[in-house]
Formats: sequence, structure tokens, C-alpha cells
Amino acid sequence: MNLEALKEQAAIKALDYVETGMTVGLGTGSTAKHAIIELGKRIKTGRLAEIIGVATSLESEKLAIEYGIPLMELSAAGVDIAIDGADEIDPNLELIKGAGGALVREKLVEFNAKKFIVVADHTKLVPYLGYKFAVPVEIMQWGARATMVKLADIAPQVQVRLRMKDGVSVISDNGNLIADCKFTEILDPRELDARMRHIPGVVGTGLFVGYADMAIIAGVNGLEIFKR
Ligand code: A5P
Repeated sequence: MNLEALKEQAAIKALDYVETGMTVGLGTGSTAKHAIIELGKRIKTGRLAEIIGVATSLESEKLAIEYGIPLMELSAAGVDIAIDGADEIDPNLELIKGAGGALVREKLVEFNAKKFIVVADHTKLVPYLGYKFAVPVEIMQWGARATMVKLADIAPQVQVRLRMKDGVSVISDNGNLIADCKFTEILDPRELDARMRHIPGVVGTGLFVGYADMAIIAGVNGLEIFKR
């Protein structure tokens, strides 16, 4: 089975946890998109009703509209459930997210979710965070160079790169830049997250520590469910 099919399988399984009347956080990326599509289908067929989605990016908002999911902005009540992908998932269900650049809104929605289910194919499981991926950090455009120097000072050997696409810097949905920070093994993700957020100019980091309640992982031998 190819990776795309595995992503779809994990995302669709997460819909088992969505019930009529729920407010649902809609993730971003190639895995979360399958959950949005399936949610739209279930609303259309009447299998789920009175669902309201809260999109974590403009991309997900567009997809949700296409599939007929009623939307609202994140309210004080938060969301009942959020379903989203991840770039890395460690054995404690701590995550690196944000390869799609939507980390800040994802974090806001998932922090305010009664239940956050991360969905992924088996390649996202890693022995420790920083194994393959850089940690995306959303930073303000104003003073960005100074912020990047401070990020680089956080640890020896950290590589900080401004995210570019087609020769221009990537701008997030919030109008900010993304600095991808590649660390070697991240031993204490909670502490690293706090240290990065302490730097003025940092809007948010892609370290999601203590966020995921459950991970649904699709592998060649089927689905595995991990709970915090
Ligand atoms: C989006 O900003 C990210 O956090 C994604 O959820 C994450 O990068 C996983 O994306 P894929 O499902 O496309 O791998």
C-alpha cells in the first residue's frame, strides 16, 4: 500500500471519534485533508449532522468550503475534537508540526481541543524529535534577522534557515516568516519550546508538547492506536 493510501486510512479512522453536534478542528496537510474530505462526505450523506469546522489554515478552509463543511472561527468554547497530521511523532506522542507552515493556527486550535487526534503513516514515528525534521518557527518579519541569530544561539550546531519557495520567503497565513531550525537530538522538547518562545519576535514553534491525546498510525500491517 502506498503512503497516500496509508494517510487516508489513518485520517478516516479518526472520524470514528466524531459525533453529531461536534465542533471539529480541521488540520492542514496531505494527511489531514483526507479527514476533511471524509467529514464533508459524512455530512452530505447525513451520517453526521450539526457539525461545525474550525480550519487551521486558509488551505483547509478552502477545502472545507469545497466539501460543504460549515465553518466558524475559533471561539472561546474551543473545539470538541481536532484531527491533524504531524511531521514527527515521538514515543511520548510529542510532535513536530508545521512543514505546511500552519503551525500557529494549528497550535491554537489543538490547544483548545477537548481531544486532539494525530493521524499519520508509519514513517512519521521517530525515536526522538529532531530525528529527521527541522522545527518550524514562525517569526515576525520585523527584526527577523535578529530573531534568527537568537534562535541559532539556542544550541550548538543548530541550523536556522528562512523558509523559501520559488526564490521568495514563505509568508504564513498570519503574515509572518517561517524559520526552520534543525537541531540534533531534541532531549527536552518542552524546555526547547519554552526557550524559543522566550525570544521576542518568535510567534510560535512547531513543537507540540503535551498536545496529542491519541495517535492513529497506518502501517503496512494495519492501524495502530497509541494513547497518551
Ligand atoms: C502543517 O503545517 C503541518 O503541521 C502538517 O500537519 C504536517 O506537516 C503533516 O503534514 P502531512 O500530513 O502533509 O505530512
